[in-house]
Amino acid sequence: MAKKLKPTPKGGFTLVVNPLGIVTQTTWLDVANICGLMAREPKIGLFVEVGVLMGGMASMMVSRIAYDPTLAYLGIERPGKKDRVDSNLQAQVLGVSHAEIVFDDCFSAPVEMVVRGWIDTTEGPALVFCDGGNKPAEIAHFAPMLRPADYI
Ligand SMILES: C[S@@+](CC[C@H](N)C(=O)[O-])C[C@H]1O[C@@H](n2cnc3c(N)ncnc32)[C@H](O)[C@@H]1O
Repeated sequence: MAKKLKPTPKGGFTLVVNPLGIVTQTTWLDVANICGLMAREPKIGLFVEVGVLMGGMASMMVSRIAYDPTLAYLGIERPGKKDRVDSNLQAQVLGVSHAEIVFDDCFSAPVEMVVRGWIDTTEGPALVFCDGGNKPAEIAHFAPMLRPADYI
């Protein structure tokens, strides 16, 4: 997550590249923590990512579905940012029935309906990864959609 990364001289953040070669703003520690959580029982059934950027986290989650078909992935990214999301990832998502990236404002009513629908039809716990850049607002918005034992 960006706040853990060192600001560059230009005031931006040092981007890292994930094991699949896609730029991400998620640190190795973030990935380790999330993978640790996903190794617990009961297994996470749905990973919701608020803020996909280029797909650093998304590509790992969508690829993971090949090894864990009980996992589903739902990414949310702003409209107009579709071209920035890795094109190979977008093609991969099209071939996975329980993976989707929605290009809309994460606070919009249509996205709320989609997220609620996916959460309500997931058997295992859902994990909502608030990474859109406004964690307080995202947590306040998505927390009421969760069921007991889901994570945010
Ligand atoms: C920190 S980056 C996400 C990094 C990404 N999770 C990763 O692992 O590489 C934040 C992303 O959130 C998106 N974003 C910001 N506000 C948003 C909103 N209201 N709705 C959807 N996406 C949003 C930005 O366009 C940006 O791509």
